[in-house]
Amino acid sequence: MPEPPSALRAPASVDVVDAIYDRRSVRSYLPQPVPADTIRRLLAAAVQAPSAMNKQPWAFVVVQDRALLQRLSDRSRDLLLAGLTPGSPFWKYKEQFEAPGFSVFFDATTLIVICASPAEWPPNEDCCLAAQNLMLAAHGLGLGTCAIGLARQAVDEPVFRRELCIPDDHRPVLPIVVGFPRAPVAPTPRAEPKVLRWR
Ligand SMILES: Cc1cc2nc3c(=O)[nH]c(=O)nc-3n(C[C@H](O)[C@H](O)[C@H](O)COP(=O)(O)O)c2cc1C
Repeated sequence: MPEPPSALRAPASVDVVDAIYDRRSVRSYLPQPVPADTIRRLLAAAVQAPSAMNKQPWAFVVVQDRALLQRLSDRSRDLLLAGLTPGSPFWKYKEQFEAPGFSVFFDATTLIVICASPAEWPPNEDCCLAAQNLMLAAHGLGLGTCAIGLARQAVDEPVFRRELCIPDDHRPVLPIVVGFPRAPVAPTPRAEPKVLRWR
């Protein structure tokens, strides 16, 4: 039986504005697994996101099986390298991608794939809002996260869709790794907000 949302609610350990400013993409993780009850809290936070007409068109796949994570990472890297050309935005990372032992998941022990289920309304926005909730909640619990767009193509391949139990009418929107950060991450720069018109 799933726990009621109140039991899954994370304690407010971090101010929401601090969390927004301090969350960073983490790209180095400790080998400790993320406990199942923590994952449930993250999913419970994710589904608090705004949703058009409250359709809540999200569904989640949680991968903690190391062998499966490795195969997904290897396939993502192969797909990436196969499409890499000198003009591509990822060209500068070529050496890093080719290095033995490279993991698109940065060796994180948990991958959560946010999937969109069919709805009358295009569900991508809802899923991305759920993703941000999940990442902020993880930050509040002392966990690190990183969205891994590089893994989406592999996750969407029939062989992995079957293995991950993604129904034919669902679409993977955003894979996110979760884990315990090895070290704090320095802030990434942000440009000033570009205001097109303020009349
Ligand atoms: C849709 C999306 C896909 C991303 N995919 C990747 C990825 O495949 N690998 C990666 O290392 N970071 C990925 N990122 C993380 C961004 O690189 C990161 O958010 C950005 O550099 C800003 O840094 P910050 O998250 O630390 O503020 C992705 C972010 C988004 C929103």
